[in-house]
Amino acid sequence: MYGGTHRIFTQVYEQYDLEFDFVDMTDLGETEAAIRETTELVWVETPTNPLLNIVDVAGTADIAHEYDALCAVDNTFATPYLQRPLDLGADIVAHSLTKYMGGHSDVVGGALVMNDADLDDRFGFYQNSVGATPGPHECFLVLRGTKTLPVRMDRHCDNARELATWLQNHENVNRVYYPGLESHPGHDLAAEQMDDFGGMISFELDASLEETAEVVSETEVFTLAESLGGVESLIEQPATMTHAAIPKEERIAAGLRDGLIRASIGIEHVDDLKADLEQAFEAGLN
Ligand SMILES: Cc1ncc(COP(=O)(O)O)c(C=O)c1O
Repeated sequence: MYGGTHRIFTQVYEQYDLEFDFVDMTDLGETEAAIRETTELVWVETPTNPLLNIVDVAGTADIAHEYDALCAVDNTFATPYLQRPLDLGADIVAHSLTKYMGGHSDVVGGALVMNDADLDDRFGFYQNSVGATPGPHECFLVLRGTKTLPVRMDRHCDNARELATWLQNHENVNRVYYPGLESHPGHDLAAEQMDDFGGMISFELDASLEETAEVVSETEVFTLAESLGGVESLIEQPATMTHAAIPKEERIAAGLRDGLIRASIGIEHVDDLKADLEQAFEAGLN
């Protein structure tokens, strides 16, 4: 999951006597086994950041409801254009509006979406009480972003699909994580619950931590940066950037190896993106 979600659960909410269990939610059995009598919320992220795992939203929501818990889905990677968790049975959808919804890397915001008036009242009360209210300019930028969301997402998906296929056959690449590839273990589920596979790709180079750091610093069309979901392509190395806070052994055990690169595929011409990665591989790996 997104590292910041892990951080707020463990380093902020645990101080208020809330307890969290982290499980591999691609296995519904593991999710059910982790439910305790006191469980109130089952939090799903799909596709996950950064390994693009796919979690069965309808199946997870059913398990949550069986035990009288709510099911919330972080839909940041998919956006409502590609995936609508409320229709799949979830109770709450969370979005980082900073990403695809804004779409231009010029606004920071978040939203919780639900289809239950009582829940809406509860969140409205907290929002008013703690001050988590967006300013009018942020709202304007996000609303403007939503007007081009479908065309942007179509291009993000097309570019990502082509790059993932190209990377899969590249000699410098050990492994590609993209749910649109038939080889991805969550491909069939993603095809069922999403309308397309999104614009995020992760891939693992056959390279050391240092060589990989060199590759991501050599790109010219891709900008070396965290964040994602804007029209410009971004590239980053989870081991030294977004997930650097995780102790090395834990990071590797979670599949975030030294050669892993995460890319937010923008809407540029896909040939420029390919050429940029090719020259960065050459510069960083030779
Ligand atoms: C899946 C996911 N959820 C939430 C967030 C948090 O977004 P923000 O930066 O708007 O707080 C991120 C940020 O990367 C993310 O990847």
